[in-house]
Amino acid sequence: MKFFIDTANLEEIKKAKALGILDGVTTNPSLISKESIIDKESIMNHYVSICNLLENEEDVSAEIISTNYMDMIQEGEKLSLLHPKIVVKIPICEDGIKAIKFLSKKNIKTNCTLVFSIGQAILAAKSGSYYVSPFLGRLDDISSNGLNLIKDIKNIYENYHFKTNILAASIRHPLHIIECAKIGIHAITSPLKVICDLVKHPLTNTGLDKFLEDYKKKF
Ligand code: G3P
Repeated sequence: MKFFIDTANLEEIKKAKALGILDGVTTNPSLISKESIIDKESIMNHYVSICNLLENEEDVSAEIISTNYMDMIQEGEKLSLLHPKIVVKIPICEDGIKAIKFLSKKNIKTNCTLVFSIGQAILAAKSGSYYVSPFLGRLDDISSNGLNLIKDIKNIYENYHFKTNILAASIRHPLHIIECAKIGIHAITSPLKVICDLVKHPLTNTGLDKFLEDYKKKF
């Protein structure tokens, strides 16, 4: 299972990389807006800086902000030329599907984002997207079941041998990651905190305290 970090923050990416379990980075316009980036051109430099932080890690999803086909493909091509690790993130919509098809034919990797339904996920696969990003947490937030959607996408992709990789996004807590692992999806993208929370267990803490205490008593 691939672990991606959902952030545009360089320090956070460095910390995640230092853990040695990072496979890639995903960003979105909201995450980019949180960073101290002064203008639109600097956003491009920021993506390159993220890519340059990664060595063995696979890729960095950079999202387009255009909303019509011609602009989408132009922006997508521009982003893809920034660095070989860039995956062009495109929101699901009719123009988005056309843009994914166009870019995929040119061997440009895409990540179909803002996916909340099975139908959207089928279209993402049909258009040749490299990733599909169903938003788990945002579905849970509105009392819908994000994990059920992910299970359904996995089954349907297997039925038709679709090659699109499922990248579960909008992860809120460790159980989301664990349940995604049980379903057997390709990857999750998560805030660093949630990944770090996976390591925590009270019995580990008390167990370690006791080991050290016993050792100190004797030696
Ligand atoms: O990057 C897309 C997705 O992971 C956003 O997550 O927490 O804003 O719902 P969130």
